[in-house]
Amino acid sequence: MNEKNIAVYPGSYDPLTNGHIDIIERGLKIFERIIVAVLKNPAKTYLFDLEERQQILKSVFSGEKRIIVDHFEGLLVDYLGRKKVNTVVRGLRAISDFEIEFQMALMNRKIEPRIETIFFVPSESYSFLSSKLVKEIYQLGGEVSSMVPQIVDRKLKEKFRRR
Ligand code: PNS
Repeated sequence: MNEKNIAVYPGSYDPLTNGHIDIIERGLKIFERIIVAVLKNPAKTYLFDLEERQQILKSVFSGEKRIIVDHFEGLLVDYLGRKKVNTVVRGLRAISDFEIEFQMALMNRKIEPRIETIFFVPSESYSFLSSKLVKEIYQLGGEVSSMVPQIVDRKLKEKFRRR
């Protein structure tokens, strides 16, 4: 496949939210194939381990052959080099995302000039949504079923032994 038709959508996905799914679906309108690359950062503590985060993605996109679920460790640009992909997809929810996303896009391009970052804007109904807030709300007894796929809601229940 022409490398121009493939993009990598990197992230922590701890856990996957409906906002991520929205970005992936928008990405599929432009790209033939999207590699959803789950970051493994040994310095970071995750709620869901790498296996769980990948398993959730594989289960949600099991019927979509154009989505490939993978993982990476280390620099994103090195991973892109190994995959021979030049395009990164990221979501921009609000102005507050812009600063860090702009910095990452420019830094990735500085390290590897062939890398381009394409931003998708999610549905406004997800503009407030983040994995971090989902975890916090759930841990404090709140309801997140409208914000995450069913499998994530189920796994949160298992993790926190809530009925
Ligand atoms: O879902 P997140 O946590 O917002 O994703 C951030 C991610 C994974 C895209 C970013 O932290 C990353 O690319 N990490 C890999 C290490 C790296 O390349 N760092 C330099 C970025 S300029």
